[in-house]
Amino acid sequence: MTPGRSCERAAPEPDPTADQATKDAMSNATTVSPAHSASTASTLITNIAALVTNDPSLGDGTPLGLVQDAAVVIEGDRIAWTGDQSKAPATDNRVDAGGRAVLPGFVDSHSHLVFAGDRTQEFNARMSGRPYSAGGIRTTVEATRAATDEELEANVTRYLAEALRQGTTTFETKSGYGLTTADESRALRVAARHTDEVTYLGAHIVAPEFAEDPAAYVALVTGEMLDACAPHARWIDVFCEQGAFDGDQARAILTAGRARGLHPRIHANQLSYGPGVRLAVELDAASADHCTHLTDEDVDALANGRTVATLLPGAEFSTRAEWPDARRLLDAGVTVALSTDCNPGSSFTSSVPFCIALAVRDMGMTPDEAVWSATAGGAAALRRTDIGRLTPGAYADLTLLDAPSHVHLAYRPGVPLVTGVWRRGERVL
Ligand code: NIG
Ligand code: FE
Repeated sequence: MTPGRSCERAAPEPDPTADQATKDAMSNATTVSPAHSASTASTLITNIAALVTNDPSLGDGTPLGLVQDAAVVIEGDRIAWTGDQSKAPATDNRVDAGGRAVLPGFVDSHSHLVFAGDRTQEFNARMSGRPYSAGGIRTTVEATRAATDEELEANVTRYLAEALRQGTTTFETKSGYGLTTADESRALRVAARHTDEVTYLGAHIVAPEFAEDPAAYVALVTGEMLDACAPHARWIDVFCEQGAFDGDQARAILTAGRARGLHPRIHANQLSYGPGVRLAVELDAASADHCTHLTDEDVDALANGRTVATLLPGAEFSTRAEWPDARRLLDAGVTVALSTDCNPGSSFTSSVPFCIALAVRDMGMTPDEAVWSATAGGAAALRRTDIGRLTPGAYADLTLLDAPSHVHLAYRPGVPLVTGVWRRGERVL
């Protein structure tokens, strides 16, 4: 790894999702009583019926660390105190949660937000029985190359504002719809204005111009394109799948990225069985994403490695595909994250609550497990310990639900329950 670039970090410098454009997009949001700015003033949020801390040493001793009749103190951009509301310290400001539930802001560790156009026709055809294939990505590549910087910027801003309204306070996003050196590095520059969890995905599919010579495209992705992209990204990703890149190509691409200080994550085993998951574990990738078609060997590899299995139920929903078996992974001891995969082809949703509801209904997760996976699990998939939990020292990223319990996220699917969001100590919704 490049000196100074650490894969595991506690406190990144840029402020994910805190750009001015997103704030502007949120300018109609409701605000509350005094001092919403992330100053050093302290704020007590009290009268919380159910608080998800994700610290098993707190509350009920489960992984969610659920505290009832709880309070949280925010100081500056961090959590300063969490516990029983009757023991809360004095603060400068006070917010009454009104007997509602509070949980960590969602950590959406997998999205593709830098794109133009949409794929309504393709979705329509799929709902009439046509299968999804990697080839549809080409449609978005064409539209993205033709878009101006301003159009790409506006799209990212729009989908981020959507995600924020649904409780997402940290997100990862990727290139992958440019597939030329100039277009991939442009996408990463746009992404980096909004988050520091930026992923270089030049290896999304073989660029159309290289259809007859995939090896030359791999050479570009690991050569000139990598040189241009590495300074703008933290991660490198490959779509390891039939119709995209095979195991050997994926290994070559991820290894080249690692030599440039990028850390691997992989689109693995989405549409078919294959080598992606085992490669992810072998390379100590932070995450293997999709994990829909897994052999026992794949599950064992994940259980014995550090790689998180990131499940993306929006993709199975929108492609009418078989659900990933979260229960099997959890029972094997694998760390599972849940994310949106927001993209115009396979999963055009920015809603983590929607993904939680699907995971509970169709993938064998309990509501507690799904909420953990969408918060602490997402943080683990980004190898972060400063987000995804509400304990002293963590970033003050919180979601307030108009419900007495986090279980309502699955129990009341499709209902806009998120009624308050704090990011870095600032109330933004
Ligand atoms: O994660 N699987 C590869 N990439 C995206 C889909 C991209 C697209 O269809 O545009 C995914 O599902
Ligand atoms: Fe994806």
